Amino acid sequence: VTRTAALVPAAGRGERLGPGAPKALRELGGAPLLVHAVRALAAATAVDLVVVAAPAGSTAEVAALLAGEPAAPRPAAPVRVVAGGETRQASVAAALAAVDDDVDVVLVHDAARPLAPSALADAVVAAVRAGHPAVVPGLPVVDTVKRVDGTGRVLATVPRADLRAVQTPQGFRADVLRRAHAAAAASPGAPATDDAGLVEALGLPVHVVPGHEEALKVTRPLDLVLAAALLARRAGAGPA
Ligand code: CTP
Ligand code: MG
Repeated sequence: VTRTAALVPAAGRGERLGPGAPKALRELGGAPLLVHAVRALAAATAVDLVVVAAPAGSTAEVAALLAGEPAAPRPAAPVRVVAGGETRQASVAAALAAVDDDVDVVLVHDAARPLAPSALADAVVAAVRAGHPAVVPGLPVVDTVKRVDGTGRVLATVPRADLRAVQTPQGFRADVLRRAHAAAAASPGAPATDDAGLVEALGLPVHVVPGHEEALKVTRPLDLVLAAALLARRAGAGPA
């Protein structure tokens, strides 16, 4: 039976990365970002199924890309591909709709975080199974963060010790994520940039576990340079 599914929103355009293919299909060390992300999730011990929300019009291309993946090192989890939506939230909802009823824990992981380790996915699932309805990986913030108004005037310095930069994979009890997305779809408001935000809006607790430096999000061109360096460092370290 499949019990844990990983959803991969991959339907964004990648406008901040600059002109070119949709971000999830841009190359890093010889493979598209999406392929790196799916490989790591499919190899996680806890993951039984991966559902990718592909850019509209690229579902066949994405399915073909992922069908060629070798099922090593363990029998990798099966991968389904659905069409994504206009917003990240809509893409996650589309992937969630393709998850079977017997799945009780769901991860949501950005295709734009290609190097998040399998062990991070396993740790997030373990925290959900230990009793947290919603779990996010987070890292301390290194910059001093200030709240500003529209003119650039500083209103306040936010105490840094209270802040976490939150990553994916985020993990949820399946019923909680379904409820959160149903509530969000029914309310106006701007679409959320992460799924835990929708759970917070329900008033349910969200728990932070330690994040990982390599789970960085590729957003701007410099991030791709850093990701390539991390990948080269891994290759240099040889097989684990
Ligand atoms: N995403 C998605 N569907 C959308 C928008 C975003 O599935 N309509 C996905 C992206 O593919 C990415 C993740 O959500 O894996 C995080 O979004 P972001 O980093 O903002 O990626 P893009 O939207 O592609 O980038 P940009 O905002 O610079 O255009
Ligand atoms: Mg975006």
